[in-house]
Parts: sequence; C-alpha cells; structure tokens
Amino acid sequence: MEFFDYYEKLFGDRWPALLESLKGEGCATELRFAEGLEPYYLDEASVFAAKALGVVPGDDVLDMCAAPGGKTLVIASLLKGEGSLQSNDRSPDRRLRLQHVIENSLPESWRSVIKVTGYDGMKFGLHKKECFDKVLLDAPCSSDRHVLNSPAHLEVWSAKRVKRLSVEQGALLASAVDALKPGGTVVYGTCALSPMENDDVVRKILKKRPAMRFEMIEDLLPGADRTEFGVHILPDHSAGRGPIYCAKLVKEK
Ligand SMILES: C[S@@+](CC[C@H](N)C(=O)[O-])C[C@H]1O[C@@H](n2cnc3c(N)ncnc32)[C@H](O)[C@@H]1O
Repeated sequence: MEFFDYYEKLFGDRWPALLESLKGEGCATELRFAEGLEPYYLDEASVFAAKALGVVPGDDVLDMCAAPGGKTLVIASLLKGEGSLQSNDRSPDRRLRLQHVIENSLPESWRSVIKVTGYDGMKFGLHKKECFDKVLLDAPCSSDRHVLNSPAHLEVWSAKRVKRLSVEQGALLASAVDALKPGGTVVYGTCALSPMENDDVVRKILKKRPAMRFEMIEDLLPGADRTEFGVHILPDHSAGRGPIYCAKLVKEK
C-alpha cells in the first residue's frame, strides 16, 4: 500500500521498528494545574514542543492552531496570568473543545489573559503584523500515527496529500513569521513523519524571509533525533513519545 511504501523508502532499515512503535495510542503525561481542576493528558513530546517556544510571563503569545488545547495549557502555565495568549483555531467544533479545556483545566487567574478566536491562520501576517513576541504554529499535518491506526484514513492517504499539506504549512508559517515582532520567536511543529512537512517547510521560509534564522533547540528529550533545523521525536527511539517535529526560528531585531 502507498503509505507503507512511501515511509519505507524514507526510513529504510528503521521503518519496521518505527512502524511497530506507531501502532496504538502512544504515551501521555498528566497536566493538572490545581486541585479540583480537570486533568489533561498530553504526549511529553508535545509538552516539549510547546516549551521550546521559551514563553515567559509578560509575553504576547499567539497559538495559531490551538485546538483541542494541550499546548495552549502549557503556554498558559508559563505565562502565569501575565501578558496575553490568543488561542486561535479555524474549526468551530474543535474550538468548542478548546474552550472547554481552557475553562476546566486552568486556574481563573491564568485563564483571564486568554482570548479564543476562530480566524484563518493565513490572515494573521496581514492583519496582525509584528504584534506577537512568540508564535506557536502547531500546523495541520498528515497525522501519520492517527492515519496508521484508522483504516478509513489509511485508505485515502496519498503522497499528493503530503505535498498539498506542505504547501499549506508553508503559507501558515509565512503568516506566523509576519505576525512576529522584531526579535520574536516562532516554533513550527507537526506530528508528521515526512521531511516534506518538517525541515523542508522551514528551509523554504528561511529563503523567503531573510530576517529569520533558525536556532537549535537545546536539552532534547532522550532518544530525540536532531534534524537540519530542528528536532524529531519518534516513538521507536523515544519510549513511545511522538511523532513530533519542532523547529525554532527567531526574527532579527
Ligand atoms: C495539530 S492540530 C493542533 C493541536 C493543538 N495545538 C494542541 O496542542 O492541542 C491542528 C489544528 O489546526 C487547525 N487548523 C487547520 N487549518 C487552519 C487554519 N488555516 N487556520 C487556523 N487553524 C487551522 C485545525 O482545526 C486543528 O485543530
């Protein structure tokens, strides 16, 4: 089948073990910020990607594709109610879940700086130019682990779709970069396996936006692989975590 051939070509000898490790749900850590609040379960690799943004209290932050909200929780816990967080997602259904998560898993004082919006992420670069200190773009992607575990999605998977997604990711990243203040940081992330949706998207934006440079992410999770611009956490080497790719880009002052 196309999916298996495509990734076998990419990963070579590593593919059989990686494939095995991708089956099933993966492992999650509990986020609970106070007694009486709902816990939220999130892959440690996702926590790592959100922390890579380096948010500190007082930052103005955009989480451009935020639903269902795991990474928004991590960002809010770093802001501690100081600064602002715009948690945006285009999908109305997923936004309802995002709102529920924010209301039920965060203390009131941390929630008060969060605004939930439903814009197309592509528009931020135009309408919110140079407005944010930090932007997280956790982009819509192939979601290969999910695809592998869903016969219906596996059936419709195609290499063309990977290509189409990478074009969309490039446009969203351009918008994220344009919404950054000079000196600001963007973290680009996906849960995709293919370099076409990961390093290749970053390589293109570095060409298109000369004010941006990439910064190596330090203090990796055990088993994470370094790539040309970022980090790829894959479950075969990383105790079931991932897949998560993330890269950090900084805009010159
Ligand atoms: C990988 S998920 C985000 C997961 C989320 N960051 C978390 O930690 O829970 C990608 C999200 O992007 C949203 N999305 C897709 N295209 C978008 C667009 N053009 N603008 C804004 N959101 C978009 C989808 O609705 C989806 O919720």
